[in-house]
Amino acid sequence: MTAQRRALGANGPLVSRIGLGCMSLSGVYGDADDAASEKLIHHVLDQGVNHLDSSDMYGWGHNEEVIGRAIKGRRDQVFLASKFGQIRREGGGNGVDGSPAHVAAACEASLKRLGVDHIDLYYQHRVDPNVPVEETVGAMTRLVEQGKVRWLGLSEAAPDRIRRAHAVHPISAIQTEYSLLYRTEAEQTREVTQELGIAFVAYAPLGRGFLSGTINTLEDVGGRRAQHPRFLPENFAHNHALAMRVADFAREKGCTPAQLCLAWLLAQGDDVFPIPGTRSASRFDENLGAQDVVLTAEEAARISATIPAGAAAGTRYPAGGMKGVFI
Ligand SMILES: NC(=O)c1ccc[n+]([C@@H]2O[C@H](COP(=O)([O-])OP(=O)(O)OC[C@H]3O[C@@H](n4cnc5c(N)ncnc54)[C@H](OP(=O)(O)O)[C@@H]3O)[C@@H](O)[C@H]2O)c1
Repeated sequence: MTAQRRALGANGPLVSRIGLGCMSLSGVYGDADDAASEKLIHHVLDQGVNHLDSSDMYGWGHNEEVIGRAIKGRRDQVFLASKFGQIRREGGGNGVDGSPAHVAAACEASLKRLGVDHIDLYYQHRVDPNVPVEETVGAMTRLVEQGKVRWLGLSEAAPDRIRRAHAVHPISAIQTEYSLLYRTEAEQTREVTQELGIAFVAYAPLGRGFLSGTINTLEDVGGRRAQHPRFLPENFAHNHALAMRVADFAREKGCTPAQLCLAWLLAQGDDVFPIPGTRSASRFDENLGAQDVVLTAEEAARISATIPAGAAAGTRYPAGGMKGVFI
């Protein structure tokens, strides 16, 4: 299968419509095996998928090191995205740091772990409410000038902040959660990104696996996901029923539930780039197959109406995490 590619943002680079979200290669959703992860990345690149999404906080450096080893000798086949801005606080817990000094230091450390001389798409992972976005993006602009970074992105920034950032330096992509399970904030964000010619990278496009049809009991929920409100016992049955509606549509369309989710996202517009995560080559192939599942406008609208925005039970993150998203 050959991956379809589209320009990422106005006059942007050609990026595969479906990428690989690499977060779960660092044990976030259960055990991951580094040798298998490197093989998976080779397989992904062999299919012509160039978009690999990482962050310095996935396994606190581990994720970038795995990717760095995997892409050795294949750098020119990769559109490499990573992120900075989340930090570990002394004594436990995560914080954010969008200060210019941190931007420069974090990028240097990521380049070293990745073993590359530049990152293609560099995102601020979480907004730092204590640092004006103009200052953070100013520091990111210097990375572009130094050739360490090619394109800039923000994750989970709200529309106003996106406009302010874009006024400092063109923003190529916004990455925010976007799936049939959670899309209210993504839809509000896309009103601005579409106006400004910014691409929308859809993270957790399978609802952290909930919409894939393979999570049917609480025991099926692996790793840190169990703390997410969507999987809590009081919300599980409601959200599982939504996943079953996805499965019904998939049966009607002759594809798998994961493919239906991704095809629905692709049908929303050429600006949308889903990055499903998986540790398995066969699931990756299945997910890539979504590019050939074409939904008519009528089908996409019917799916949207059956699983309306806001239908999920529980917030996207636990209460602490919700304070840092869409701000
Ligand atoms: N910017 C941010 O704040 C942020 C936050 C979260 C995620 N992300 C990015 O988005 C990427 C994707 O998000 P995500 O991994 O959280 O959620 P996701 O892509 O919605 O779901 C991933 C889960 O679904 C399973 N899965 C994948 N394909 C499947 C298939 N065809 N059938 C059945 N199950 C399947 C995976 O399990 P297996 O591994 O067992 O296949 C994994 O547990 C991440 O890797 C990361 O790069 C960004």
